[in-house]
Amino acid sequence: MKRFERSVFCGEVAAQHLGKELTLCGWVNKRRDHGGLIFIDLRDRSGLMQVVFDAKVAADVHEQAHALRSECVISVTGKVVERTATTVNEDLPTGKWEMQASVLTIHNRAKVLPFTLDEAHQVDEELRLTYRYLDLRRPEMRDRIALRHKIIFAMRQVLDEQGFYEIETPILTKNTAEGAREYIVPSRVQKGLFYALPQSPQVYKQLLMAGGLERYFQVARCFRDEDTRADRQPEFTQLDLEMSFINEEDIMAIVEKLIVKAFDVAGKKITAPFRRMPFDEAFGTYGCDKPDLRFGLPIIDCAALFKDTEIAFLKSVVTKGGALGCLHIPQHHFSRSELESWVNRALLNGAKGLLWIRLNNEGKIEAPVAKFLPEDFAERIKVLIPSFKAGDTLFIMAGALKETWTQLGRLRLQLGDLLQLIDKSRDELLWVTDFPMFEYNEDSGRWAAMHHPFTSPKGDWESQSHGEIKARAYDIVLNGVELGGGSIRIHNPELQAKVFKMIDIDSDDMKRHFGFLLEAQELGFPPHGGLAIGLDRFVMLLLGCASIREVIAFPKTQSAADPMMQAPTGVDARKLADYGLKVFAEPVVSKTK
Ligand code: AMO
Repeated sequence: MKRFERSVFCGEVAAQHLGKELTLCGWVNKRRDHGGLIFIDLRDRSGLMQVVFDAKVAADVHEQAHALRSECVISVTGKVVERTATTVNEDLPTGKWEMQASVLTIHNRAKVLPFTLDEAHQVDEELRLTYRYLDLRRPEMRDRIALRHKIIFAMRQVLDEQGFYEIETPILTKNTAEGAREYIVPSRVQKGLFYALPQSPQVYKQLLMAGGLERYFQVARCFRDEDTRADRQPEFTQLDLEMSFINEEDIMAIVEKLIVKAFDVAGKKITAPFRRMPFDEAFGTYGCDKPDLRFGLPIIDCAALFKDTEIAFLKSVVTKGGALGCLHIPQHHFSRSELESWVNRALLNGAKGLLWIRLNNEGKIEAPVAKFLPEDFAERIKVLIPSFKAGDTLFIMAGALKETWTQLGRLRLQLGDLLQLIDKSRDELLWVTDFPMFEYNEDSGRWAAMHHPFTSPKGDWESQSHGEIKARAYDIVLNGVELGGGSIRIHNPELQAKVFKMIDIDSDDMKRHFGFLLEAQELGFPPHGGLAIGLDRFVMLLLGCASIREVIAFPKTQSAADPMMQAPTGVDARKLADYGLKVFAEPVVSKTK
């Protein structure tokens, strides 16, 4: 009996195979029945190859081929021949040849699919996710998954060459202080106790440094019970790394190597070193900690324009020592209704208001508050913004600095997008450095660590106030998206105690949660630091996809469900009893269907 073994992949059939007998395996992509001749496009993950079943060549096999339908799985053996000149398909790499089938095995028949692969991009995403294995058969999905593999593989090689060990860390663990809500898992053996799934391997990787392993990395699964968004999943993957006896420069150099390599694998060029910008500059110029540098439109402090203003709402901001900032949009004619819609958009974003002022082509200032502006207002603007000229518009916001700049930053991104100011042909990588060590939480009225409380403060921090202290923390940003972040950690128990004190953290409380880490600081802890790159996000950006769900084999839906596996599910009372659990919540109607 003939054993059906694939000789080559469909997409690999080439001139060297002409006249040879091969065996191909795969899925029937399309079938065309021309009476005595049946043609199929056979598909495997490498591409397509045309197979012809000719009644004159092998009548029984031709007869068998009548049963073939799209998505049947077959093996087929036959001779590779040249197609006639008129049937050559120049669009297909294998389009010059076809296989004349002499043996056919149908491994699996396929019913009519819930959606055809050609129309998968148009069907409801939930249906795609319910039949993800069908979706994965599409060339687009296959290419994304293949490139993801190549990128991760290449990054692994870079890290191996740099002396990193790949080390797995536990999934059943305890809160890791990343700040999101955690997933918890009940223990059966120790009823009433719970594991937490790791939000990242943060604490373990630091303990690996305490373990003297010097250079660690992991392609790590992380779990955060937070709202799902286009660039966020409850379960995602980080390329996580940590090194001992290093400083920020060493980490940045390694990460730049990794990123340059990944771009290279994706067929894009990027050169290191990347730009760097302290947090204060990023926030002061772009109103956020992850500026998209593919376009300008910086925030301009325009308090000077209004220092003597009589416009009530601006005057009250000025007298309270608040901030006034603006965006200068050169040479764009906004209609009145467009200006209105920008005001509305700002309000929808949560801004308190948006004032527009423009210089019309006759050189006259137009604004809702025009009659309250001084005669020389256009000249004043030109002093502040020398490039300001007729046809230009200012969008102005006023209020507390942080909130106003954040709102202007948001508006800047929307203007960049809707006025098509973003140069999408370029990729802009940026290191944001010198993050504040602490941030003030208005609700609790307390200072908290901005990164995490194991991050080292920077420089002469003991002489500074909470708000002035900077952290040895850094983020890597690609086209306005936070790709990764990390820090140099504290390895010294005295310093750690001082940091806890700054944020009023009770050391005993900390010991209860992170006692093992604090103890490690007293048992020979090397200086160390690291970073984690969000791999799904990175691959999404490299491939130009709109959502990370497009680059994850089995992602979750918006409601954190897996419609294919139908997870999460209820658990029957007996099983719950094994864990010492009882459910009080009303059972939710499954969101997976
Ligand atoms: P951080 O919390 O900044 O740092 O996470 C690092 C990177 O992980 C990605 N990321 C996510 N991707 C998809 N879905 C999510 N829900 C999600 N959350 C985060 C982002 C982010 O930049 N332990 C530290 C790293 C360190 O200090 O070394 C950490 O996890 O791309």
